[in-house]
Amino acid sequence: MPSDVINDIRNKVDIIDIIGERIPLISRGKNFFGVCPFHDDSNPSLCVSREKQIYTCFSCHATGNVYTFLQNYEHWDFKQALKYLGDRVGIDVGIKSVQRKNPKFDRIYQAYHIALKYYQNNLASSYGKEAKKYLAQRKLDDSVIKEFEIGLSLENDDLTKLLIKKGYSLLELNQMGLSSDSRDIYKDRIMFPLYDLNGKPIAFSGRIYQDNNQNKYLNTKETELFKKGNLLYHYHIAKEEARGKKFVLVMEGFMDVIRASTIGIRNTIALMGTALTKEQIKLIRRLSPNIILCLDGDDPGQEATLKAGELFLKEGCEVKVVVLPKEEDPDTFILREGKQKFEDLIENALYFSNYKIQRYKTTKKGQSDKEKAKYINQILKETSALTDEIRIEIILKNLAKEFDIGYNTLEMRFRQMKEEKKKPEFIIPPRKKIPINKYTKAVHALIYFLLTQDFAVQETRMKHLVFPEEKYRMTFNEIFYYYDQYGKLNIADFYTYIEDKEEIRKVIDDVLQEEYENVVTQDVLQDLYKVIQENVKNLEMNRLKDKIKEEMDPIEQAKIAEQIRKLRIGD
Ligand code: UTP
Ligand code: MN
Repeated sequence: MPSDVINDIRNKVDIIDIIGERIPLISRGKNFFGVCPFHDDSNPSLCVSREKQIYTCFSCHATGNVYTFLQNYEHWDFKQALKYLGDRVGIDVGIKSVQRKNPKFDRIYQAYHIALKYYQNNLASSYGKEAKKYLAQRKLDDSVIKEFEIGLSLENDDLTKLLIKKGYSLLELNQMGLSSDSRDIYKDRIMFPLYDLNGKPIAFSGRIYQDNNQNKYLNTKETELFKKGNLLYHYHIAKEEARGKKFVLVMEGFMDVIRASTIGIRNTIALMGTALTKEQIKLIRRLSPNIILCLDGDDPGQEATLKAGELFLKEGCEVKVVVLPKEEDPDTFILREGKQKFEDLIENALYFSNYKIQRYKTTKKGQSDKEKAKYINQILKETSALTDEIRIEIILKNLAKEFDIGYNTLEMRFRQMKEEKKKPEFIIPPRKKIPINKYTKAVHALIYFLLTQDFAVQETRMKHLVFPEEKYRMTFNEIFYYYDQYGKLNIADFYTYIEDKEEIRKVIDDVLQEEYENVVTQDVLQDLYKVIQENVKNLEMNRLKDKIKEEMDPIEQAKIAEQIRKLRIGD
């Protein structure tokens, strides 16, 4: 993909729109601010510049242009970000373009691809007869097996052997969670691939299908790619579906998701038996701010619903809850009651506050008045965050009824709370200052000016400055090279150019952590040059001083002393 197309597309979109569609931005002066999605925070430390078309986080130091933002936020590769933006501005980027990948990860993807095919073959073969019987009995037909790429592991160690033949080492297979001591990890289980956020298989969950007293599911251990807390089952499909449906259904098990899919409901993700992590909440929030929790009907499921609901509320989501009968999960409910009944449940999902009131009624009966009051106040407080007056009234009426309190009393308390809860002020946190010396400061400032004003490039090149640090030499060289290639320099485009030049990216990240004058004058430039030249001079002087100490020959000593003198007077 020629970089003028990349830059052209970048030029046609406004980074404020792209980021603003994903996180709320507030305009302050020349810049926009929002809560940074790349670290855990509630302060608006992400600064987005419309003028420069870049973002900078004051706190975690993430910086970049619109492409890097999309890549990091959406977990896309460069190609996906390019295509997305290309589509928006009506530029066809074709399909063939560079894809940047980590070759080490490629080997894991490839191994999992081979394993998946191998397991699928087993299930289709005569070895798979019993397993197929089990699947049929669970009403999982061939189309489901195909769609979810379900397979079968065997008693032997053939997968390990196969992968060794394909050039994998035992150590690698061990690290990938496929083998242990030259033996297959999964024995005689129905294999469900677990996918990463883009739909690539990177792990398995193997289910027993005959009576034996092993764990129901065996999951791949955590590997470099498979980090449970960062993944959600079915995310890659839900990503597309949630847009149209305008909400996401959160379920407990992947069997629930698979079942829902059989009745055409695919805006679903499964948590897979772990407590919801912050990262997962953020991932789900990206699909839609409207969450419907549909966990198992049993007590653990309901407890998890309360916990998850609070977490989603905190992230600013709109939370509803589907309550299933005590002994059911979405899988069994859909099987027994069918599509229509399940859709009715979703249609009539309870608002989280109402769910909490109802849950309180069934679990906390007979608590002290004090505890009751505490609970009521908590619900009122949550409700005071809402803006929809009709909904507020429904919740208050519900509370009044369930707790047998006068509506007016509740309403009064509610208004009072709303008053108290003065809007949290929008305070932009100060930049985290990293102490740096005068020299580094000067280098950073110079890099910044080169990236933002053309005349500084010409000027600086003629100075032939010397940088003892490799990273700065590289950075300046790339800047000059880029300028020669394109005849102009633009910080946002430069980001794309240095995307896989890790060292330089780091330098630019550091550079942007400080604030600079908007326009640079000749005088300022000259001062920077001076500081940079001084630095080299001081280094050389120190080197000579060390040398003179070690030198025995008085004639040589005198020569060095003369050199030092010349340096000092600036000869
Ligand atoms: P469930 O026990 O609710 O699974 O666990 P399920 O969906 O009803 O499965 P079936 O219907 O019995 O086949 C929910 C999730 O917890 C994880 C799995 O990811 C499962 O999807 N889990 C459960 C395990 O990892 N190991 C187990 O032994 C059990
Ligand atoms: Mn189940």
